[in-house]
Amino acid sequence: MDPTVLYNLTYGLYVVGVMDGERPVGCVINTCYQVTSQNPILAISLNKNNFTLDAIRRNRRYSLSILNEDSDPTVIGTFGFHSSRDTDKYADYGYDIISGAPVVRGTFAGRLILEALDFVDCETHVLVLGRLVDTAAGEGTPMTYAYYHKVIKGKAPKNAPTYREEKPEEKPAASNLTKYRCDLCGYEVEVEGELPADFTCPLCGASRDQFSKV
Ligand SMILES: Cc1cc2nc3c(=O)[nH]c(=O)nc-3n(C[C@H](O)[C@H](O)[C@H](O)COP(=O)(O)O)c2cc1C
Repeated sequence: MDPTVLYNLTYGLYVVGVMDGERPVGCVINTCYQVTSQNPILAISLNKNNFTLDAIRRNRRYSLSILNEDSDPTVIGTFGFHSSRDTDKYADYGYDIISGAPVVRGTFAGRLILEALDFVDCETHVLVLGRLVDTAAGEGTPMTYAYYHKVIKGKAPKNAPTYREEKPEEKPAASNLTKYRCDLCGYEVEVEGELPADFTCPLCGASRDQFSKV
């Protein structure tokens, strides 16, 4: 079996938002699809280690903010590479409450508010089935997973269902550019000489010492 055929599946990108008591929490996902059309039910896949899953089990009301191509890419870094266990992911962005669920502020292609109906165990992940209870219109072109990889040059962490183990690329012999990769989110940058000491990752905010040469 050739598992790389899975790379041809297409996805969008979403920020899940849920209140954990008085605190908004959430994470980035790419695994969302509409299961039924009448009185719609949607499915999302959450890793069992993700705090967001625990919060949805407790609260059941959650939001999906549909990223667009103009959405602030640092939202992906903050919500996709840090855990709400020890991070206030909304601190830099703020949030609003729509029908009981927090939505991170910013430009998005739309917001969906859901009520969890069922949790299906899928070994490492849990499929959360949710009833759509409210929507808010957005703007722009929805961001696809392919756009995130090709244009934003982002990666997915191990908790994402679509995580891919990557082999380091061969550097062309004649190039005087040095490639660095962010240890936290996988963002890659090429510079002449050394990466400056004050460099910070444009995706997840990691500092210079979290970049390794590749
Ligand atoms: C592009 C991208 C796609 C992701 N897709 C998923 C996903 O579909 N399901 C999932 O459980 N985690 C996914 N993740 C990983 C979570 O966002 C990440 O593990 C996060 O730190 C969990 O935070 P939490 O502990 O606050 O829930 C994705 C991350 C990125 C950057």
